[in-house]
Amino acid sequence: MTEEIHKGLAGVVADHTAVSKVNPESNSLLYRGYPVQQLAAELAFEEVALLLWNGELPDAAQKEEFRAFERSHRALDPRVKSAIDLLPLDCHPMDVGRTAVSVLGANHPLSEDSSPEAELTKAKELFAAFPAVVAYDQRRRRQLQLVEPREDLDYSQNFLWMTFGEEAPEEVVDAFRVSMVLYAEHSFNASTFTARVVTSTLADLHSAVTAAIGALKGPLHGGANEAVMHTFEEIGIDPDETREEAAARAKAWMEQALAEKRKVMGFGHRVYKSGDSRVPTMKQALDAMVDYYGRGELMGLYDGLEAAMGEAKNILPNLDYPAGPTYHLMGFDTEMFTPLFIAARITGWTAHIAEQRANNALIRPLSAYNGPEERHL
Ligand code: SDX
Repeated sequence: MTEEIHKGLAGVVADHTAVSKVNPESNSLLYRGYPVQQLAAELAFEEVALLLWNGELPDAAQKEEFRAFERSHRALDPRVKSAIDLLPLDCHPMDVGRTAVSVLGANHPLSEDSSPEAELTKAKELFAAFPAVVAYDQRRRRQLQLVEPREDLDYSQNFLWMTFGEEAPEEVVDAFRVSMVLYAEHSFNASTFTARVVTSTLADLHSAVTAAIGALKGPLHGGANEAVMHTFEEIGIDPDETREEAAARAKAWMEQALAEKRKVMGFGHRVYKSGDSRVPTMKQALDAMVDYYGRGELMGLYDGLEAAMGEAKNILPNLDYPAGPTYHLMGFDTEMFTPLFIAARITGWTAHIAEQRANNALIRPLSAYNGPEERHL
């Protein structure tokens, strides 16, 4: 019997979801029916999180309730801090994020309670708690002390406050908020599917999120935002160069990379073949940061790589391409970019975990055996 193999599960529809709709034909992305561009233009990230979890936009009372909840669950749990302090400063920050979520799960009194109410509480707590993990990890790598959260700041303002120890300007907060909204959810991507696979075995929410972080780490998935910056660094960032000079060097680098058959991170997508729906919005946020910091030469590299990839292979940027340099300009170390993706995607993952639990079937595909025929000792 010849079995049809769907390598990488490409083109396979594994289940229904009501969380988001990715439409590659129209290059659109809807969260619970709302275009992501509209959400990014008008809503706080906290509101988008509630939309993803609840299926509807929050009313004023729900917003207020979550505002108070989120602001009172931001402090770094001392057990998490102790665990982070055991990890070497040169380990990857994704390892820190993965460990932190695991420690939070092991200590959570509702860990084994998978009722919808307990799951939502755990999701909200994780959403509120994770920024402190990223912020503290960024600071300890710079030999800086932990900065306590501030209840007078919103999610994005406080995230930047805890990371850099100063209030971020409005322009920076807004670009950060936009990146969180755009990174929040994207149907059955590899990490979300991982979370659903783990959930399908009836394991707990923190196990599913920990596994999802493992899947997100790889450069073919979330690790690409960091890898984009490594590409820029490999080409060389020269603040004294003109945009045109930078573009010419980037073009030459890309031609060489493609001649060597290298995969260039930040380009291409399994689902979108004519452009990632989120890129124009993220590119606007990047442009705002470039103007704010006066770093036009970076866009020379950006434009040069994009143009050369387009000309050579007609492959377009994905969300990680504009997100990487945006986080760089904000002052995050390159290795911290993918943990920022975790902070955002906790919303989508946990919405999918709830959906999987509500209508579960163990995820267990078949394989076509191609090893040796039966043989005997
Ligand atoms: C994310 O799924 C999601 O929704 C993910 C995500 C989310 O929000 O959750 O959108 C976030 O993960 C974005 C993707 C980040 N990854 C990268 O930027 C890594 C670089 N891109 C790729 O390697 C690639 O495009 C993938 C992995 C994203 C998608 O790959 P596919 O669908 O498996 O396609 P493929 O690797 O088989 O490529 C098809 C062709 C190949 O050429 P041929 O062998 O047919 O000649 O396109 C080429 C590839 O070599 N190609 C690239 C390329 N991407 C595709 N060549 C060079 N550089 C690239 N980036």
